[in-house]
Amino acid sequence: MKKMSVVPASAFNLNCSTIASDKSISHRCAMFSLLSDQKSTIENFLLGEDTLASLNIAQQLGATVTRNGSYVEITPPKELQEPSDVLDCGNAGTAIRLYVGLLSGIDGYFVLSGDKYLRARPMKRVVNPLISIGAKIDGRANGNLAPLTVRGGALEAFRYHSSIDSAQVKSAMILSALRAKEKSYYKENLLSRDHTERMLLGMGAEISFLTDGYIEIMPLTSPLKPLNIRVPSDPSSGFFFAVASAIIPNSTILLENLTLNKTRVEAYKILQDMGAKVEFIQKENIYEPIGDIRVSYNGKLSSVSVNSNIAWLIDELPALSIAMAMAKGTSKVSNAKELRVKESDRISCVLENLNRCGIETKEYEDGYEIVGGVIHKAIIDSFGDHRIAMSFAIAGLVDGMDIEDIECIETSFPNFIEILKEITEVL
Ligand code: S3P
Repeated sequence: MKKMSVVPASAFNLNCSTIASDKSISHRCAMFSLLSDQKSTIENFLLGEDTLASLNIAQQLGATVTRNGSYVEITPPKELQEPSDVLDCGNAGTAIRLYVGLLSGIDGYFVLSGDKYLRARPMKRVVNPLISIGAKIDGRANGNLAPLTVRGGALEAFRYHSSIDSAQVKSAMILSALRAKEKSYYKENLLSRDHTERMLLGMGAEISFLTDGYIEIMPLTSPLKPLNIRVPSDPSSGFFFAVASAIIPNSTILLENLTLNKTRVEAYKILQDMGAKVEFIQKENIYEPIGDIRVSYNGKLSSVSVNSNIAWLIDELPALSIAMAMAKGTSKVSNAKELRVKESDRISCVLENLNRCGIETKEYEDGYEIVGGVIHKAIIDSFGDHRIAMSFAIAGLVDGMDIEDIECIETSFPNFIEILKEITEVL
């Protein structure tokens, strides 16, 4: 088990152009290239374990993949092939849930699995709606747990109003709708990250947004145009360093070329509400608004209450909790039950580790309270969750930190420690 020790930092001023490429968009690049009949070219593909798993699966399904560093070319097969082995999604919920949707309408037999953490995460959120339109899917615990088996075949069109705001569920259903017999409709209460809609529209899919909140999806009648895309940097990965500059006096960081999609930058706005100086600098618009975010220390942070637009900051809540632990007053997070079914139960894992650092907390079923104070050095368990490991590495900039089980950082942000070393010593 790999460990790291983070040494307290003093003020830093950094321009950072090497934040990891966006994980959500990279997964979709690997998968959606299979919907074309021509070669897709992807620059700046995330070389994390999660997204490389998606790329391997594309290959197992018959695509020819050539990769030169983070530049990837994907030539899809004429027809997707039945793989001869299990499709290993590693730690990636996005890989397994989206591929289940994509494959449920493809002729063939597919087995999808992943690591012990992924095999413990609920799949019925995609399995149930897919079964209701005729998909033949099964798995452990009545189809709720991987390994999942998919026997692809004909799918009915659907009209589905989802009770959870999940881009993974929405994307799985949109991908299945592309193979359904007629046009389908999908609705969610809060717009979850919309990379799937944006990218498929760019590839020529017929997707419309109706005034009653439903997305209308027409089945594919011919292959889509290929993707030619440069993946922006991931604001969820950049956010660890945003928190670092908000809590270390007199620090500032410029995070370059992130997606500024509003469903992805809500945590930066909360950090701004807490008192940090945050500037958004949009530079271009390719599938998504893309630009830089500058975050600067602006005095001690104030406490905050977070209870809305949760899907827009769900991945950033562990790092935001570090900012809350350093703020004046008690912060509260609610309506965030989804945190319990991420790579770990992020409510109990964040609170357990904050308590080890001497921070007082209160746990609720759907959230928590954090009493701001000073984070002290402790021994942290990542619980195999990349975002817990990286959040507490940032917490260590205050008084030092020993973090155990850090291999998981490779899933989403392989150069995290390299960037951290520009701020402090990491042993
Ligand atoms: C993702 C959607 C979110 C997010 C995950 C990536 C995606 O999950 O937490 O890290 O790429 O679609 P949910 O859709 O389950 O909320």
